[in-house]
Amino acid sequence: MSPREIASVAVVGAGTMGTQIAFCAALHGYPVHLFSRSDQRLHQGVAEATRILAKRVEKGTLEPRDLEAACARVRPTTDLEEAAGSVDLVIKAIAEERDAKHRVFSQLGGIAREDAILASNSSTMPSSFFRECVPHPERLLNLHFFNPALVMRLVEVVKGEHTAETTAQACMEFARRIGKTPVMVRKATYGFVANRILFIAMQEAFDLVAQGVVAMEDCDLAVRNGLNWPMGPFELADLVGLDITEDILHEGHVQTGEARWAPKPLLRRHVEAGELGRKTGRGFYDYPGA
Ligand code: 3HC
Repeated sequence: MSPREIASVAVVGAGTMGTQIAFCAALHGYPVHLFSRSDQRLHQGVAEATRILAKRVEKGTLEPRDLEAACARVRPTTDLEEAAGSVDLVIKAIAEERDAKHRVFSQLGGIAREDAILASNSSTMPSSFFRECVPHPERLLNLHFFNPALVMRLVEVVKGEHTAETTAQACMEFARRIGKTPVMVRKATYGFVANRILFIAMQEAFDLVAQGVVAMEDCDLAVRNGLNWPMGPFELADLVGLDITEDILHEGHVQTGEARWAPKPLLRRHVEAGELGRKTGRGFYDYPGA
């Protein structure tokens, strides 16, 4: 059975990524169920996304009625069956923990419609890790969004060996309809494409600073001005979260066995100290009032 055209969506996980993905879809007319086990998390996520979009209204780049309509399309719920039982596409955006993902995909395998597409927003774990959890692995794949998802245009549509071409194409079309620029990744290699390039560059930056070649601020300045990145690698690591950056690198080391992915001591020291980036008010830089 081929997937139907995607007309309704559920997002499982109401963290920063999940909530922003849900609002991207809602802004482009899709009804979206947003699931979290925690009412408080749902409330916080929706409030934060609404706050970001209200700024667009203030700037005049979003009509107030479009914001209202998007908010009305997002239906928060703590009931997974209600969230995922009737939609065409389920996007799972939960923590990068293999057991938790395993559990959620197994539940979704029993709940989701026969012809629904099940997607993972994971940056490190290919969908093949979970193919045994679902009855129709031909409709299972990675859909990888970038942070902040309301802004970043790229979506990596990552085919596993089990993923049907019709599934991948339906997701390419969905990504275009929510204003994204999708890229098809034909082999689910570790890090897919963008992260594979980004995180090795970050590792180089950590080494250059640790070796005293350049100060951290100057390294960021060099990358911003010499490569035209909107942020330098240290600023970007603080945005992504240093714990997440470490987890992504660690997973690369485990999956490939290549030493180049082993998280650098400079990064590990910050994580051990609980300095996780913007979200904790301190990472490589300080964020007073965050
Ligand atoms: N969440 C949502 N929207 C945000 C945001 C956030 N955290 N931060 C900024 N924005 C929005 C603003 O609201 C504004 O939107 P508008 O133009 O519609 O009003 C727009 O982004 C521009 O914001 P600002 O003018 O305040 O700031 P900048 O021009 O400096 O842009 C930035 C901020 C968009 C974050 C830009 O610096 C950027 O693109 N940085 C690089 C981000 C990046 O590389 N992300 C990828 C990380 S890797 C990843 O996600 C993979 C994962 O697997 C780890």
